[in-house]
Amino acid sequence: MSLPVAELHMHIEGSLEPELIFELAERNSVTLPYRDIDDLRSRYEFTDLQSFLDLYFANMQVLRTEQDFADLARAYFARAAQGGVAHAEIFCNPQAHMARGVSLEVVIDGIMDAVSASEREFGLSSGVIAAVLRDRPVREAVDMLADLLAMRAPIVGIGLDSAEVGNPPSLFEDVFARARAEGLHTVAHAGEEGPPEYIWQALDLLGAERIDHGVRALEDPELVRRLVDEQIPLTVCPLSNVRLRVVDTMAVHPVRRMMTEGLVVTVNSDDPAYFGGYVDDNFTALRDAVDLTDGERDILARNSIRASFASEARKSELLAAR
Ligand code: HPA
Ligand code: ZN
Repeated sequence: MSLPVAELHMHIEGSLEPELIFELAERNSVTLPYRDIDDLRSRYEFTDLQSFLDLYFANMQVLRTEQDFADLARAYFARAAQGGVAHAEIFCNPQAHMARGVSLEVVIDGIMDAVSASEREFGLSSGVIAAVLRDRPVREAVDMLADLLAMRAPIVGIGLDSAEVGNPPSLFEDVFARARAEGLHTVAHAGEEGPPEYIWQALDLLGAERIDHGVRALEDPELVRRLVDEQIPLTVCPLSNVRLRVVDTMAVHPVRRMMTEGLVVTVNSDDPAYFGGYVDDNFTALRDAVDLTDGERDILARNSIRASFASEARKSELLAAR
C-alpha cells in the first residue's frame, strides 16, 4: 500500500463536473449556453490560463444555494478519497459568487457542511482556503476578508488566484498582512504564467507559506536556493500545466528536476473537472510520461502531508499510515 496524499491545491469550483453542471442548471432553472454535455466537453480545449478561466467562471453560475455548494464539495471529497487523498485543503473563490449575487454565507456554509462531514464520511480531513481573485479590485479583497472575519468563517487561510500576469502579489500586501495578523495561513499562486519575480513577492511581501504552482522558479537559480533553504513547499499541478500550456508535454514536465534540486514538491489536481483528472490521475500521468517511481511517489506524498496545515497529530497519523 502506498502513503495517503494531502491535496493542497484544488479549486472546489474547478471540481464541478459537466454532469453536475447540467444537474444544477436543471435544479436552479439556469439556461446553459450548451446543447448537451458533449457540446460542453468540446470546449475543454485551452490555450492559456485565461481561456480556462473564462469557462471556469461561466460554469459557476449554476451554483446558487448552500445545498449546491455542499453537493459540489461532497462530490469532490468522495472522488478524492477514492484516489488516495486523506487530507485536502480546498480553495474557494467567494468573490466570483458574491459578484453575481450569491452571499458569502451561502458559499461558506455550503462548503463547510461537506467539510464537517468529510472525516466521518470518507476518512478525509479537510480545510478551506478563501482565495482572492487578483484580477479584481484590491478593495474587494479587503472587504471579502473583513466579511469572512466578521462572520467568523472557519477557514484555515487565504490564497491568491486567477489571472496572474499583470496582477502581481505586491497589490495585495495589506490584505495578506491583515490575514496573517488574524492568525490565518497564507498561500499564493505564483510562477505559473507569471515571472519568478512574483514568487519573490509572494514570499517577501505576502509571507506566503506555500507557493501554488511555482514551476517558473526554475528560471531563477537564486530563487531556487531560497526555496530550498527555507523548504517552502510548491504545490505543483502537472495535468493543469500541460492543459494550460505552461509546459509543452507531460514528458518534459520539470517535476523530477524540481525534486532533484531539493525543492519541496507536492502533486495536486488544481481544477480536476477541467484538466483531465484528480490527484491519482496526476500521479498516473507522471508514471506513464516520466517513469515516476513508487519511491518518488511516496516522497511527493510525504511532502504533501508535511506541507499541509493539518495538526501535528493528524500529520503523524497520515505519515504512519500505509
Ligand atoms: N491558476 C490561477 N487561478 C486559478 C487556477 C489556476 O490554475 N485555477 C482556478 N483558478
Ligand atoms: Zn490553482
